[in-house]
Amino acid sequence: MTELLPLSNQSIANATSILHAGGLVAFPTETVYGLGADACNANAVASIFAAKKRPKFNPLISHVATVDAAFALGRKTPIAAALAAAFWPGPITLVLTRDEHCPIARLTTAGLNKIALRVPAHAETQRLLTTFGGPVAAPSANRSGKISPSRATHVMQSLAGRIDLILDGGACESGVESTIVDCTGTQAIILRPGGVIRDEIIHVLAAANLDPNIGNPPAPDSDSTPVSPGQLSSHYAPNAALRLNVETAANDEILVGFGSIAGSGDQPLSLSTKGDLSEAAAKLFDLLHKLDAMKLPKIAIAPIPRTGLGEAINDRLRRAAAPRQL
Ligand code: TXA
Ligand code: MG
Repeated sequence: MTELLPLSNQSIANATSILHAGGLVAFPTETVYGLGADACNANAVASIFAAKKRPKFNPLISHVATVDAAFALGRKTPIAAALAAAFWPGPITLVLTRDEHCPIARLTTAGLNKIALRVPAHAETQRLLTTFGGPVAAPSANRSGKISPSRATHVMQSLAGRIDLILDGGACESGVESTIVDCTGTQAIILRPGGVIRDEIIHVLAAANLDPNIGNPPAPDSDSTPVSPGQLSSHYAPNAALRLNVETAANDEILVGFGSIAGSGDQPLSLSTKGDLSEAAAKLFDLLHKLDAMKLPKIAIAPIPRTGLGEAINDRLRRAAAPRQL
């Protein structure tokens, strides 16, 4: 059941307990309602994708209460420092290189080496983040493919029964999502237009003696839409060759199992021995990173059902297995 509670100290305390326990809480921000989970808990993040019925693992924005907390997770660049000083807290999301000690689950960043961070301005969101004490991963709180919610009732209509709690803070101030800016290079790149407009960004960069030209986002994959930067080809792909839907591995392959298909090794490698798609989603990117670090040339993956979260898992695997566009 999904509870709907007005924002108060009590409901924020409830929300905090739910987040700590790996549950899902929708909350208002100054842009749109977000669907939050503990960003460091891969299982909790997997349930965001399940609740939204998202067919792809788009990376999620991690929300934190302070600028310092953000720069502890992602590497500060001069562009990031200038934009943070000018617009945080507020409707801008900065994409930074993940700090090497960043504790955020790999699923939150969809296996990317970059992390999207936002310090929201909404006073109650701030209170929730401070009380929770850690980063909260949150996409907009709507079913995949539907428009973003600007009221608690919109969230209820689309996610009732699929999440634990909705904090009702009335209508969102803007209803337009945050502007997303990649700050990892020497030129800012606007990945998604939003609450903070281009001219304001140019003005701030110029005032800080930084390159005021805005770079172009990388070309999207043929099957992605331009509004979803997370689906861009910059997605993490392992170095090893991947073969999918494999029940019996070849001699030179290491097999990652699922369900009744056991993987290679004494402690068989598996995305989920129970055949649990949520567990598989939570493990997927970690496992790909680990196998890559082992420098294995060939990896085979057992078939994963295409139902529920399986659609996103298969989408991701298909991308990881596709010929590299170098
Ligand atoms: O205003 C907002 O940004 C709202 C509130 C809740 O904060 N959130 C939101 O999240 O709109 P979502 O998931 O609906 O959109 C976030 C976008 C996605 O298109 C995703 O691809 C992109 O951010 N994104 C997240 N992490 C990224 C990364 N590391 N690199 C590039 N794009 C990223
Ligand atoms: Mg969205």
